[in-house]
Amino acid sequence: MTKFIGIKACVFDAYGTLFDVHSAVGKHRSRLGGKADAVSGTWRAKQLEYTWQRTILDRYVDFWRVTADGLDFALDAHGVDDAALREDLLNAYLSLDCYPEVPGVLNALKEAGLRTAILSNGSPMMLEAAVESAGIGGALDEVLSVDELGMYKPSPEVYQLATDALGVGRGQVSFQSSNAWDAAAAATFGFRVAWCNRFGQARERLPDAPDVEIRTLDELPAIVLP
Ligand code: LAC
Repeated sequence: MTKFIGIKACVFDAYGTLFDVHSAVGKHRSRLGGKADAVSGTWRAKQLEYTWQRTILDRYVDFWRVTADGLDFALDAHGVDDAALREDLLNAYLSLDCYPEVPGVLNALKEAGLRTAILSNGSPMMLEAAVESAGIGGALDEVLSVDELGMYKPSPEVYQLATDALGVGRGQVSFQSSNAWDAAAAATFGFRVAWCNRFGQARERLPDAPDVEIRTLDELPAIVLP
């Protein structure tokens, strides 16, 4: 089994890794009929695509706006015209479900003496709401948002936020993301990386690869703890 040696901090991506982004549509599934999964998939894909486009073009707006824009595209693309549902779906992003193993894993890492942090595209308001709703604030040392930089992942400056805030070296960080492109970029930056491949996705063809692939975060403590 792969072991990461000398880890001081565990840094987590938020959306898709700690929080289930599809739980927003899940809460209103019946109102979308047979379109629910398609809307959720398009919403997430467009949300991410818009972060990349805005970063490359230097046209940053915060993740709440990008999330709303992605939702508006998805509803339009799938022929859903319902203003009340649009508001309910967007607001559901503030109280996403966290994956079931998350609170226990974060607590175990902290109790073992590691620092824990979120490093996310999410705006501070969104992250605060999601952390509060999931009840995991007590198990996190830092909740870091790209918003102070005005650029999104996978810009290297974003990953640098974590080493600066935690006062640790790149090789002392174990970074976890379910987003394969985020995991790859974190590996390029120099973190040790665990790709939490929750849905059995194919591996990316990008310059650098994660050190280890796990199915859920339950597998993490055995990798990072001595
Ligand atoms: C985040 C997105 C990438 O939380 O899931 O940063």
